[in-house]
Amino acid sequence: MKQFTCVQDLGDLRSALAEAFEIKKDRFKYSELGRNKTLMMIFFNSSLRTRLSTQKAAFNLGMNVMVLDINQGAWKLETERGVIMAGDKQEHILEAIPVMGSYCDIIGVRSFARFEDREFDYNEVILNQFTKYSGRPVFSMEAATRHPLQSFADLITIEEYKTKERPKVVLTWAPHPRPLPQAVPNSFAEWMNTTDYDFVITHPEGYELDPKFVGRAKVEYDQRKAFEGADFIYAKSWGAYTGENYGRVLSTDRSWTVSSGQMACTDNAFFMHCLPVRRNMIVSDEVIECDRSIVIPEAANREISATVVLKRMIEGLEK
Ligand code: CP
Repeated sequence: MKQFTCVQDLGDLRSALAEAFEIKKDRFKYSELGRNKTLMMIFFNSSLRTRLSTQKAAFNLGMNVMVLDINQGAWKLETERGVIMAGDKQEHILEAIPVMGSYCDIIGVRSFARFEDREFDYNEVILNQFTKYSGRPVFSMEAATRHPLQSFADLITIEEYKTKERPKVVLTWAPHPRPLPQAVPNSFAEWMNTTDYDFVITHPEGYELDPKFVGRAKVEYDQRKAFEGADFIYAKSWGAYTGENYGRVLSTDRSWTVSSGQMACTDNAFFMHCLPVRRNMIVSDEVIECDRSIVIPEAANREISATVVLKRMIEGLEK
């Protein structure tokens, strides 16, 4: 595998899931594969799970790891070409990227949507610059429009916990004081659309996602109706996508906070969230602490999804 930025890069999901469950049984099975190979992880934004789970995955495979936080200790990077660099940015990304590429074999990049210009975000300008100029295989550790390592872990988790062949999975918007990127809901929808699950998205009017990601999902504006008979509730907040409202908070209506009342409408659904989560904004204490909350095993599966992805990328280096 030469890159991992979306579900299509993984190819057949059945075989990817089989590989994930094989690695889960013995996560050190391929501990020699990454010997003398170096992973560089570049963070433009904060992280707990992605940072730790991806490093752990690299260690499982015997890799060396370097981590760079661009905004803490590195030179400030200019990302636009043609800018007269008379401001506070000391280095251009077009030199920085090939330099970083010269020190490693594989690069992971985290670069969130900036919410300044939808076209800039949805063209994945930063991630694509790494792909174009690093000379190395690149994978996304959450980019402007997708978070595929998270979505792969989410799929592994649903496959582990489902008790029906075709579970009902509901992605619900939830309130948050600040606008959050659409990467997680976009990506979750993209991955769910590759399955034959009954997949529903619910949000207040104005929070419609890019139709490209919504795909075949049923969109239901009544959250309680959407929750009826659900087997999995996947909560996430996101800022508006459409028109001039791009990147704005349109509602902080706490009646959308996932609480026991809504969960009672479901078929004893499991509760999922990618974390970090703001309690009693997105989900109540009771729901996230109840025995149907699977947010911790979901986060633990980030190590598994990252191990599969890195294993395939190392294998791709040999070809
Ligand atoms: N879910 C997730 O990506 O967590 P972090 O932002 O902490 O990496």
